[in-house]
Amino acid sequence: MNSNTRPNTPEQPIEKKMPFHKYKPFKPIALADRSWPDQVISRAPRWCSVDLRDGNQALIEPMSPVEKQQMYDLLIDLGFKEIEVGFPAASQTDFDFVRNIIEADSIPEGVTIQVLCQARKELIARTCEAVQGARDVIFHLYNSTSTLQRKVVFGMSREEIITLATDATALVKQYTQPLVDAGTNVILEYSPESYTATEMDFAVDICTAVMEVWQPTEDKKIILNLPSTVEMATPNIYADQIEYFIRKLPERNKAVISLHTHNDRGTGIAASELGLMAGAERIEGTLFGNGERTGNCDLITMAMNLFSQGIDPELYLSNMPGIVEVSESCTKIPVHVRQPYAGELVFTAFSGSHQDAIRKGMSHVESGSEGAWEVPYLPIDPADVGGSYRETVRVNSQSGKGGVAFILENYFGVQLPREVLLELSPIIQAVSEADGGELKPDTIWNTFVTEFVEVKGPYQLLDYQIHSLDRENEKCTARLAISASEVDISGQGSGPIDAFVAALIETLNEPLNVVDYQEYSLNEGSQAQAICILSISDDEQRKYYGVGISQNTTTAAFKSIIAAINRKWR
Ligand code: KIV
Ligand code: ZN
Repeated sequence: MNSNTRPNTPEQPIEKKMPFHKYKPFKPIALADRSWPDQVISRAPRWCSVDLRDGNQALIEPMSPVEKQQMYDLLIDLGFKEIEVGFPAASQTDFDFVRNIIEADSIPEGVTIQVLCQARKELIARTCEAVQGARDVIFHLYNSTSTLQRKVVFGMSREEIITLATDATALVKQYTQPLVDAGTNVILEYSPESYTATEMDFAVDICTAVMEVWQPTEDKKIILNLPSTVEMATPNIYADQIEYFIRKLPERNKAVISLHTHNDRGTGIAASELGLMAGAERIEGTLFGNGERTGNCDLITMAMNLFSQGIDPELYLSNMPGIVEVSESCTKIPVHVRQPYAGELVFTAFSGSHQDAIRKGMSHVESGSEGAWEVPYLPIDPADVGGSYRETVRVNSQSGKGGVAFILENYFGVQLPREVLLELSPIIQAVSEADGGELKPDTIWNTFVTEFVEVKGPYQLLDYQIHSLDRENEKCTARLAISASEVDISGQGSGPIDAFVAALIETLNEPLNVVDYQEYSLNEGSQAQAICILSISDDEQRKYYGVGISQNTTTAAFKSIIAAINRKWR
């Protein structure tokens, strides 16, 4: 909502009472012996995407023909076998789109297109026109059955509404007969729209009446779709309503029970999941839950929830960034950073203790979990949806040394000793607190370099040479800038570092012990850089770390010594 349309702005005083008396609590049905709470979902339902219809009709700017095609192609790629491609009798764009995919032969074998149609004669005729020539079609007929709509919208009795639905079913049967004769496989889906706001016995009666007209068989079932058009109660109540319906429906074996939830209370997915436990077999919904008002059931989250339980979701969701990209460009609605399984931040830990646990979990998975995913704070492996281990750790002022270590190691290949991390981490934290936000890997790297590599101080290495004296001794001559003057130094030792240290001791006239020396290659290939990390200790055994980076290993070592001395003198 744009701020101009918001009724209350921050400047307006906040009313200290809410007009809750206006609302009536939803009356649950009596279903004392419900069995759904003991059920476990063990397989994927039949998925039906309604992105191109329910999703599209809820957009500020409905999809253009090109965007519809992009969304359709994506849905096919993701493995949807049933796709509601539009409401062709209500929209010329939808009509043209349906004709297009049929005439261009772009409906793969095994994929059934679904078209929505209201229970009205001329709309039914036009819908049949739209789907001519398709191989498999679900004709989705609906009319509202809710108590409130019967009273305030249609002014019709239960009997009149049943007649409306059965007459329409008879027309669908009649008008689709030529299509069937021409080889199209037509399945009827009937939705008592606003099912959850309908008296349950009436919903069963109207669906039974529709079945009597349509005459489904066990081999050719009708789809009975039970929408929670506006979500009005907790998801357990929806599950009760589904279990009730299934128990009461006379020829249950001739119907596929389908669910179509919306998300007005924020529990559209939960309602669909509990509805599946209550015996439904098919789920309608959209990618990322786009749809009317608060949206439809989010099929991606629902499928990934199954996946995370070790169940084949029967949708291919491995390229989540690609799915997000197409969805955002077609709907013009950004996917939220906290969108389950897909948002930018959903596999990210900022907190130090979480980062630490993730790091330990990852090494457990690499070494000993026998293929099972056992990583704290990560419900699934981000790599399974096109993410990477790198994204799991990001650094802000809440992060500790673990996060800094992770970034330096995973982005720059640098493994720092614990003592260096202990020194660096509070510096990083201070930078983050001063900036007030996240520190990107480059900032962490630059802070590390300023602090340990290019350390400001009195000493600078300008040049050096190494000469072999004999098989065991080398001589080092070097030129240093010390404050404002340049000084030549020289020393001997068993190797270049020893010789350089000897030269420094003579010049500095103080003890210089190199301890904790380590050097390794930062990257591979001819441009490989060596990193040398060491510390020097003074007579009181205090340690000062320095780091040198260079393509030459000796230069890296000398620079690290100079960096350490400068850090000591700071
Ligand atoms: O939400 C709803 O009830 C619908 C029907 C047309 C199925 O979208
Ligand atoms: Zn809907």
